[in-house]
Amino acid sequence: MYKIIKKRVLNPTVTMMDIYAPLIANKGRAGQFIILRVDDDGERIPLTIAGCDKSTGTVKIIFQVVGATTMALNAKAEGESICDFVGPLGCPTKTDGIKRVCIVGGGVGCAIALPVAQEFASLGAEVHSVVGFRNKDLVILEEEFNACSDKLIIVTDDGSYGRQGVVTAPLKELLESGEQYDEVIAIGPVIMMKFVVETVKPFGVPVTVSMNPIMIDGTGMCGGCRLTVGGKTKFACVDGPDFNGYEVDFDEAMERSTMYADFERREREEGCNLFKKEMK
Ligand SMILES: Cc1cc2nc3c(=O)[nH]c(=O)nc-3n(C[C@H](O)[C@H](O)[C@H](O)COP(=O)(O)OP(=O)(O)OC[C@H]3O[C@@H](n4cnc5c(N)ncnc54)[C@H](O)[C@@H]3O)c2cc1C
Ligand code: FES
Repeated sequence: MYKIIKKRVLNPTVTMMDIYAPLIANKGRAGQFIILRVDDDGERIPLTIAGCDKSTGTVKIIFQVVGATTMALNAKAEGESICDFVGPLGCPTKTDGIKRVCIVGGGVGCAIALPVAQEFASLGAEVHSVVGFRNKDLVILEEEFNACSDKLIIVTDDGSYGRQGVVTAPLKELLESGEQYDEVIAIGPVIMMKFVVETVKPFGVPVTVSMNPIMIDGTGMCGGCRLTVGGKTKFACVDGPDFNGYEVDFDEAMERSTMYADFERREREEGCNLFKKEMK
């Protein structure tokens, strides 16, 4: 069992937890993820390692409550435990030779982008961060991004905080103003990553994207997370989750991500009904 040492609500749908898992805390690196099960009969879900503290043996996760499993996880309180917590899985984000980087995060993808920005900052790279949210209430991790970024631009779709618009607009302006990056790293909804790649392409800057397909085993066995990258089949859990953005078939990835939509909706509704019964 893995104890929840700390729980903090970041916004109405996003929660941060520190889980006691010293072996993972010792080895986890930015860009890697864990797979957890909340209880014995629960499903396995992947979440990114949002930070590791070797001194306390804890691993930070930040998750958006979107369906049955994240609802069950969010229902756990500090001091309670979850059943399985396996990792670190996947390849760490490549940092070699990158001295100037622009990190682009969207929504809860910012939870995945933050440890990457922190890793580059700790290596002495110049870090520019462009982060986007739907509205002011959903803005998370501003203080943390400020602390590790040489430049931080926040945008909201409705203009209720920061600049109004989507992340690609300030990104384009930065590139047009002559900012030179060794790499742009985009983490967020697949559609956002697709448009970041299109925005950066004319400037010839390398783009890395962090893909988040359906995962089951997380060890390259089931094929659930397969993607087409550079015309070849890749498994996000073992070959990624980071890939060269110019090579990813985003349209196929978006189509595959909706494969289980009906099943997930049913699970979510059943979860809600159970919750309602318990409350009676
Ligand atoms: C490598 C990786 C890292 C991730 N990191 C984070 C993170 O740090 N924070 C965060 O909030 N979310 C993260 N996700 C997404 C997270 O796994 C899903 O939100 C979660 O599985 C939803 O499960 P659910 O039962 O609550 O919702 P459901 O209703 O079952 O699903 C809602 C949506 O979540 C996605 N999803 C569902 N099951 C899986 C699965 N087994 N594998 C992948 N995606 C799934 C699908 O897009 C689905 O439409 C990550 C996904 C991957 C692949
Ligand atoms: S999750 Fe099964 S192959 Fe990647």
